Amino acid sequence: MLKGVEQTFLNTGHPRNVTTWACGAMGNSKDAGMVHFAHPGMIKRTIAGHFGQTGAEMMKMVFAGEVEAYNFPQGSLSHLTRHIASRSPGLLTKVGLGTFVDPRIEGGKLNSQSTEDLVKLVEFAGEEWLFYPCPKIDVAIIRGTLADENGNITLDKEGVLLEQINIAHAAKACGGIVIAQVERIVQAGSLHPKAVKIPGVSVDYVVVSQPENHMQTIATQFNPAFCGDVRVPLNSLEPMALDERKVIARRTAMELKPGAVTNLGIGIPAGVPSVAAEEGVSDQLTLSVESGITSGIPAQLGDFGVVYNAEAIIEQSLQFDFYDGGGLDASFLGLAQADNWGNVNVSKFNGRPVGCGGFVNITRSTKKLVFCGTFTAGGLQVQAADGQLTIVQEGKSRKFIEKVEQITFNGHDAALRQQEVLFVTERAVFQLTTEGLELTEIAPGVDLERDVLAHMGFKPIMKNVKTMDAGLFSAQWGGWRRRWRPRLCSCSRV
Ligand SMILES: CC(C)(COP(=O)(O)OP(=O)(O)OC[C@H]1O[C@@H](n2cnc3c(N)ncnc32)[C@H](O)[C@@H]1OP(=O)(O)O)[C@@H](O)C(=O)NCCC(=O)NCCS
Repeated sequence: MLKGVEQTFLNTGHPRNVTTWACGAMGNSKDAGMVHFAHPGMIKRTIAGHFGQTGAEMMKMVFAGEVEAYNFPQGSLSHLTRHIASRSPGLLTKVGLGTFVDPRIEGGKLNSQSTEDLVKLVEFAGEEWLFYPCPKIDVAIIRGTLADENGNITLDKEGVLLEQINIAHAAKACGGIVIAQVERIVQAGSLHPKAVKIPGVSVDYVVVSQPENHMQTIATQFNPAFCGDVRVPLNSLEPMALDERKVIARRTAMELKPGAVTNLGIGIPAGVPSVAAEEGVSDQLTLSVESGITSGIPAQLGDFGVVYNAEAIIEQSLQFDFYDGGGLDASFLGLAQADNWGNVNVSKFNGRPVGCGGFVNITRSTKKLVFCGTFTAGGLQVQAADGQLTIVQEGKSRKFIEKVEQITFNGHDAALRQQEVLFVTERAVFQLTTEGLELTEIAPGVDLERDVLAHMGFKPIMKNVKTMDAGLFSAQWGGWRRRWRPRLCSCSRV
């Protein structure tokens, strides 16, 4: 669909000055998704939950201020689709207060051309809230698997359900049109009514796509395991190599209580299930992904967002209801920058506004947060062997700095709200307190001054610094079972 719209623009100069609106990131960083709108004159404004995969051309336009650009929490955007659909005035939420989304800070604006306030700070019932007025949707572009001759759409081969129905209803509520891109058209009446996820009454046009333009994920044309048609044997997943990412995933896994409902973010945390599978304890974990999936092993890299062996796949907006409602016991999230107050930035670093995704929703309501990342970024090389860690080459950029470039998570607010917050790196572990970050552990083999404090932009609180478990740095680990063995028998989700 997007390729077709681009071709029309290149041939005729229309459509012009389009505003695009998406809950997540659209693209594969190369030749799909938003890159097809990256032409001066074609796009006026872009609003999204994440910009990470939109491609170099679109990011260049965002940096250069050639397009107005806004980033808002993925869950809030997802919820807003329901408000548009029901013609309510907008979304009232506490998600984003005190972060870059808050109009007192940046209002989600990504460049100086973005001057309109799309989120407002309001007082309601004596409390502060963020209010997102409903935008008007003229055209909704959604995707599915099959369409029947009446435009009824199934999502059978999709790895996620997202908010396709809400978006279709939103466009209809605004008097707009709905275009569905599918794999195939079948005879009217041949689809099971429960398989139909978008009724034909809400669909105006159906476009049958070429398979290469209808990949299931960025990396995979189609894998039946991602949509729940088959389950993969867990021993078929490759164990990770013993490097800094595996050490962090192991130390992070130690914070996973048996039976706890957990969210895993993009990046280093996505290695936790692989470590759990290697340790033979996958059945003790209840992982979930904000795109709407519960249980299973989250896929990595270009497949991030879908899961092997899921237990349930629901719509994204419903998953964010569960998250915003406090359903998550623990979350493990990536880390680009952190400061002394425990503020975390994952959304804009080195001047690159990649976006927050579901991070702001997840960090607001989860009971326990673990931010996981390498201690420095860009070229870091370490050696983990025989229970020791050696820093072979330091990364070019510091992650623990005096002031974060953008506040995606407000540490001080979280500490005052008594959220439990840890920071896990390959060489050090920190805990958030109301007085700031406290260094609680360092890796065996590293020097506190040379390898830790010398690469930080602030001095952490240090009271009782322990040594990290040597097993984390050895070929065989087994630490998760040792830690939780006494509780394994009594734990059950039902
Ligand atoms: C923050 C985030 C980028 C970290 O990713 P990661 O893979 O765990 O960590 P890395 O340190 O390898 O960082 C990824 C890249 O960003 C760069 N980077 C990370 N921190 C950096 C910093 N402080 N300064 C400069 N560059 C940095 C790395 O060098 C790396 O670049 P490369 O791909 O060119 O090598 C990732 O977690 C993210 O995009 N988060 C936002 C979305 C989110 O968390 N949503 C919530 C649930 S999905």
